[in-house]
Amino acid sequence: MSTDIDYTYVSDVSDIEVGHSISVNVEGKKILICNTEEGFFAVQDMCTHALIPLCGGFIQGTLISCPLHGAVFDLKTGEVMAPPAFEDLETFKLKIEGTSISVKNPET
Ligand code: FES
Repeated sequence: MSTDIDYTYVSDVSDIEVGHSISVNVEGKKILICNTEEGFFAVQDMCTHALIPLCGGFIQGTLISCPLHGAVFDLKTGEVMAPPAFEDLETFKLKIEGTSISVKNPET
């Protein structure tokens, strides 16, 4: 069972507009918090193709395009949807209480 110490506060919902994302650092791991038309999702902030940040990538629906070579990932599942990347993204659970967004701490 999860307790609050398993989660780290990262942002207020009002800080991220729909279609935008922010990069946060939780226990040394860069995590991208994305606001989509279907809600908030969290994935590793690193493209699995050439290991550059996904922050700033174009978000449409629940898909994000890598800003460098255009690989597409599903933010809900982390699944790669279009090349040149072929490995999925790691995803992280989010908890939203009131207007506070917390992310489940990465496994260490
Ligand atoms: S670095 Fe993301 S597609 Fe190449």
